[in-house]
Parts: sequence; C-alpha cells; structure tokens
Amino acid sequence: MKNNQFISIAVDGPVGAGKSTLCDALARRLGIVHLDTGAMYRAFGLYVLRHQDISPDDEEALGRLIREGQINIGVSFEGDSQITLLNGKDVTKQLRGEAVGTAASAVSRFSAVRRYLVSLQQELAKERSLLIDGRDIGTVVLPDAKVKIFLTASVEDRALRRFHQLIDAGIDADYATVLKDMIARDEQDQNRQTDPLRPAQDAIILDTTNLKFEESLQKMLAIVCEVYEQN
Ligand code: DC
Repeated sequence: MKNNQFISIAVDGPVGAGKSTLCDALARRLGIVHLDTGAMYRAFGLYVLRHQDISPDDEEALGRLIREGQINIGVSFEGDSQITLLNGKDVTKQLRGEAVGTAASAVSRFSAVRRYLVSLQQELAKERSLLIDGRDIGTVVLPDAKVKIFLTASVEDRALRRFHQLIDAGIDADYATVLKDMIARDEQDQNRQTDPLRPAQDAIILDTTNLKFEESLQKMLAIVCEVYEQN
C-alpha cells in the first residue's frame, strides 16, 4: 500500500451485518482508524430522545436545530477508539440501545440531517486515512473511494447476532422483537427518499451469512489487498 496518501475504505450494509466489529478489526489490521458513522446518527437520535418537545418526524424542526447551532455532533479518536460527542459531551456509551437506534433511523430520513453529517464525515476523511462504515459511504460520502465493500447477511442471521450482542451487553432482549425491529429498520433505511441504503455500482458485495467472524475478516482483508495491489 502507498504511504504517501490517505486511504479511504467505504463499508456499507444493513443493520446487524457485523459492520462495526468487522470494521474495528479490519482497521486495526490495516493500522488505520475506523469511523462508525451510525454513531453520529445515533447521537442525533439521542438528542431528540432527550428533548421530548422535538419530534423525530419533524423535518423542519430538525433542520432548525442544525441551522441555529443547537445541535453539534463531533468525533475524536483516542488511540483507535472513536469518541462521539454531542454538544461537546462524550455520549459514546449512551448510543447502543434500541430506542436510540430507532430514533437515529427516523432522523436519518431527512436531507438536512444527512447533509450535515455527510459534510462532517467528508471533512474527517480529508484529515487522515479512514475506514468508514455506514449506509451511504460508497454512494454519497466517498464516491471515489478505491475500496467499497457492501456487507450483508440474511435478516434472520443479522437479528440473531444483534440479539446476542444485546444480551452480552446486559440489555434485556427477545429474538422475535429484535427480528421484527430489524425488518422495520431495513424497510426504513432502504426506502427513504434521501440516500437510501443500496450498494454502490462498484461495491464488492460480501454476504456473511453462515460465515465465522474470522472468515469474514479474511475476505475483507483480501478485497482491500487486491484493490491496493492493483493500484
Ligand atoms: O449502523 P447503526 O445501526 O449504528 O445506524 C443507526 C441508524 O443510522 C440506521 O438505522 C441508519 C442510520 N445511518 C444512516 O442513515 N447512514 C449512515 N451512514 C449510518 C447510519
């Protein structure tokens, strides 16, 4: 790989495809930082959950929050760990619950929210090499990224993984509800008008159904190496 330029790797895919953990591991192997853009949408969702007077369905009110500077989302890195900031406060540990995920999915439908967060992400990618994961990285945030991977898996497989993650994190959950929520979230992410979830034309699709973590990681590493060896 060339050292004299920033590397940008775009990874997209539906909720629960293992993006976060795989991207953490892949970035570590490559010696670059992993930017989880979902955490930025979640921070936005958390703000709305904390302010009952603002509806996640009110596009005009959400746009006003941004214009008037009432909401400020930021990201910093401590070593290779991402710290997500909401109005200057570290909210990293408050972003994982399902309520925050649902609020994030709701606010992410609106172009004012997307334009705000996309431009922050593009600025971050100008400053350093990044592996960025999200829903629109290969299509909108980094359309020129050399490596674009679209990670997917069956919805049942993804729901099962998410269910285990929640249980392991000590969060009460049941599989049927997780599956139902995941189907609803897929529907919302794929059918929103602005930047819906879809693979970029030049993305490599990696289906991780029935693959073990290490197998998926090796496949991602092989994709990255192949692309950079050709350049
Ligand atoms: O990846 P995640 O579950 O943390 O993302 C939370 C929500 O944020 C997801 O439902 C869709 C939205 N999102 C998005 O629209 N675009 C991104 N680049 C990342 C996340």
